[in-house]
Formats: sequence, structure tokens, C-alpha cells
Amino acid sequence: MIDIAAAEGVRNVGLLGIGAYRPRRIVTNAEICERIDSTDEWIVSRSGIHTRHFASADETVRAMSVIAGQRAIDNSGIDPAEIGALILATSTWPQQVPHGAPVVAFDLGINGVAAMDLTAGCSGFGHGMAVGADLIRAGSAKYTLVIGVERMSDGLDMTNRGNCFIFGDGAGAVVLGPTERNGISPVVWGSDGEHSQAIRQNHTIVDYMEMGANATGPIGKMTLEMDGSTVFRWAAITLPKAIHQTLTSAGVTTEDIEVFVPHQANARISEVMKKHLGFGDDVPMANDIATTGNTSSASIPLAMEELLRTGKAKEGQTALLLGFGAGLTYAGQVVTLPPAPAPVTDPDHL
Ligand code: UT7
Repeated sequence: MIDIAAAEGVRNVGLLGIGAYRPRRIVTNAEICERIDSTDEWIVSRSGIHTRHFASADETVRAMSVIAGQRAIDNSGIDPAEIGALILATSTWPQQVPHGAPVVAFDLGINGVAAMDLTAGCSGFGHGMAVGADLIRAGSAKYTLVIGVERMSDGLDMTNRGNCFIFGDGAGAVVLGPTERNGISPVVWGSDGEHSQAIRQNHTIVDYMEMGANATGPIGKMTLEMDGSTVFRWAAITLPKAIHQTLTSAGVTTEDIEVFVPHQANARISEVMKKHLGFGDDVPMANDIATTGNTSSASIPLAMEELLRTGKAKEGQTALLLGFGAGLTYAGQVVTLPPAPAPVTDPDHL
């Protein structure tokens, strides 16, 4: 037996820069209600959502990823040539093969980098950040770029009043790298496959392959289905435990948390968690869902970017991030917030 060389990384890793992209088209509840039996009041009171962004044809998953990724790189100030890996957290890349990260890397001018997609529903970004940070700790990359991106609108049945009002499109990204003091806690993550069908697509890809091969006729659009109240109940039981484990593994208490960034699934879920944690109104809590809807893997970086851009949260503050959703899965981390993003000057690129 011989000794095989082992890579050596760094212990302290943090968020160096953040970037986001929100599609141009803003969709109001009134527009949603043109196709379902609902009202603006019902949607706002049950979910906290007023508007969401839907991507237009040119705002592909690829295009949104590249803009958010480029902004994160610019805001981090690092040399992109030193990025060792790109992780694309998404459930809506339009093909299984090829996956998205390599072509996004190519567009970003970092062709050749390790590039992988990661699917973990709405907790995809937290999973991606955990992998991205641990790659640096293990010495597998100096810097990593983690992008959360979704075009949820492609897979919605806009006549399904149970969920069509919830989701939106967008992309958020962070650059991770070595820092003097540790800025990303160990991740606390998990899954519950027993309840996997609580959030699902109505068909498998094989259904479509067979439909083509056997010419059995159209089976309709592949759309998302969600047993909302099942997920709500699962969240109420699972997430408080996950939060406490996250704080413990980070070596902090609720008093140390200055900003709370839960996945933007439903403003009511966020409020319940805030109350459970005992956070007062002095602890800013992300409420990006009001104008962005639930953007799944993009939700946490978009919400974090909004807090920093508007000055509600500041660089260096300690934030609790908690993603949860399809799988069912969850991922929690305590992080030190990165610098506020530079203002976006191109009005076409929100
Ligand atoms: O991001 C992934 C993780 N996802 C989540 O965490 C989602 C968690 N779940 C939720 O956010 C909520 O369950 C929803 C916002 C999806 C739904 O809110 P809810 O308070 O759980 O409503 P519900 O599904 O229990 O429905 C309550 C009532 C029903 O009527 P009845 O049976 O009480 O007469 C529904 O038919 O509201 C009705 N309803 C609607 N009414 C007006 C359902 N959708 C609508 C609608 N407009 N759009």
C-alpha cells in the first residue's frame, strides 16, 4: 500500500460577494387571478406574496445564472481565474444532459473549471453552499461560485389555484473563499423521503420519452404539484429542530443572530419561525417573498441580496439561513454577511 497525496485546504471560509438577477416582467396577483378563482386579499393573507417576476424568453436559466454569477464575482473582487468550482443549484435547468454548470462557466469566461449541478429543491442553495465551502476546506478549490437559479414559471399550471400564485423566477449567486475568521458554519441538513410526494411533478421524463416513442398522444404539460398543508405541517415540526441544531453547531445562540433569512416559501411560515426563535422586530427578517414569490433554489441568495442592497442588513452581521422544500429536504447555516452588492445600473437587468 502506498501513501496517496491528500489535498489541504483552509479552515476559515466565508461569503466574499453576492449577486442577483430578477426577471423584468412583474406579475401581479390581479393577473394571476384572471385564471383562478382567488383574490389579491386571499393570496396576500395566506402567503405574503404581492407580486413575482416571471422570466421572458430571453431570460433563460443560463442567462440569469450568468448575470447573477458575474455580479457575485465582480462584487467579491477576486480574480475569476482562481475559481476552482462552480455549483449550479437548480431544479429547472431544461435538460438532464448536458447539465447547466459547464456552459454557465463557459459564458462566465471560466471554461475548464469543475462544474456541477445540484438538485435539492428549495434547499438547493444551502446544499450548494455547504458543498462549495467544504470543497475549499478540503483543498479541492481556492474559491467556489454557488448559483441558485430557477425558472419556476415554465412548470406551473396557471389554472391550479393551489400553487400557481406561489412561485417566481430569478437567480442569486455567491463567491466563497478563504477568510481570516470563519464566516460559514457547519451545515445542518437532512431529508425526508417518506414524504417525497408532497412536492412533485405530475409526470416523469420517461412518460414523455414513451409518449414520443409510442405516439400515444399528448399527456399535457409537466407541472408542479404541492400538498401545501402537508409541507406546512412538516415544516412546523422539522424546522425548529433544524434551527436549534444549526445554532448549536455554529456555537452561537439566538441572541447572536442579527439577521434571519429563511427560505421564502410563505411569509406565515417565516413569521412562525421568527416567533418560535423569539426574535424581536430589531432582528431584520427577509421578506423578499412579497415581491419575488418563492424562487426555490434562488430564494435565499435573492433574499440576502435584497436585505444588503436596501441596507436592512449590513456586511459583517451574523445571519441564520434556512432552506427547506422538495425532497423533502432542509439545510441550515449561520453565516457572516458579505459586502452589499454594487448598485445595478442597467435598468434592463434588475
Ligand atoms: O418552497 C417549498 C416549500 N413549500 C412550502 O413550504 C409551502 C407550504 N404551504 C403553503 O405555503 C400553504 O399551504 C399554501 C399557501 C400553499 C396554501 O395555504 P393554506 O392556508 O395551507 O391553504 P389550504 O391549502 O389549506 O386551503 C385552504 C382553503 C381551501 O378551501 P376549503 O377547503 O377550506 O373550503 C382551499 O380550497 O383555501 C382554498 N384555496 C384557495 N382559495 C382562494 C386554495 N387555494 C386558494 C386560492 N384562492 N388560490
